[in-house]
Amino acid sequence: MEGRKRIFSGIQPSGNITIGNYIGALKNWIELQDDYDCIYCVVDMHAITVKQDASVLRKRSLDALALLLACGVEPEKSILFIQSHVPEHAMLNWALCCKTYIGELQRMTQFKDKSVRHADNINAGLFTYPVLMAADILLYQAELVPVGEDQKQHVELTRDLCLRFNKTYGETFAMPEPLIPKTGARIMSLQEPQRKMSKSDPNPNAYINVLDEPQDIERKLKRAVTDCEGLIAYDPQNRAGVSNLLEIYSAMRNIPVERSVELFSGLGYGELKAETAKAVIERFAPIRERYRELTSDRKRLLIIAEDGADKAKRIAQKTIAKVYHKLGFDSK
Ligand code: TRP
Repeated sequence: MEGRKRIFSGIQPSGNITIGNYIGALKNWIELQDDYDCIYCVVDMHAITVKQDASVLRKRSLDALALLLACGVEPEKSILFIQSHVPEHAMLNWALCCKTYIGELQRMTQFKDKSVRHADNINAGLFTYPVLMAADILLYQAELVPVGEDQKQHVELTRDLCLRFNKTYGETFAMPEPLIPKTGARIMSLQEPQRKMSKSDPNPNAYINVLDEPQDIERKLKRAVTDCEGLIAYDPQNRAGVSNLLEIYSAMRNIPVERSVELFSGLGYGELKAETAKAVIERFAPIRERYRELTSDRKRLLIIAEDGADKAKRIAQKTIAKVYHKLGFDSK
């Protein structure tokens, strides 16, 4: 629609997503659809910067698309597609690689972290990962990029590349800005509430997945670590466990944390846990149901993916035509 700002964001096809990813990212993606032109992408090309099994990745990419649909991404409102279906991402990636300095990439904290975690596979793609991400964003002339705090540095690099390219070649890309959720974005482990919730936690009781069965959600929340003060208060520094439950409850019920604190005043941790479980189950049950339906019809999912890729391509091709001309690649 005319006059609306364009949003781009991407999500890795890494199997399940946690309630932390849901609250920090997906929930916002859904809400943004009414006010912006949103383009949402399953970034399978980013995924191969670490080892992947082809058939597993193929399945996970389509599953991720189904999960986004199940959570409420509406293909009639937003463009939803799988990155590798639009080769323009790779085309712009190369152009931008030649405009990025090695020193800029060496500073990226995620690269440094991943180099430690995947010490046996520090490949060039892992190093240039942020350039591909910049290509994703600039390809669509996106002005806003909803991301978690951990991706802010990559969006900063995207801004630097945008400015650099526009300065050299004239106005080509829109300047993107990160859109980072305020509080509530950092959902903590249910077992060690000083640490961020992570789906790679060896203890499955530490995290809740969007597709978890209701009884698992209930069990995990019942066992959530709190403290021995016995008083419900919001104080993430000193009362991490209780504050985390309050954050989860508030996000599920779409109310400010202060309101939740009021609601639970005078009640015990047992009530807080039970009510939080109820709120989470109420929100995730329909998502799980839709997800089951969607994944039972792979053909239909593929059609949705293809349709999204067609729409994405129309925008991407315009940008690539401009960029390739400016670089001297066509004979016009
Ligand atoms: N790197 C992002 C992450 O791991 C995913 C991503 C890829 C992305 N391309 C993007 C996010 C473009 C926003 C915009 O979370």
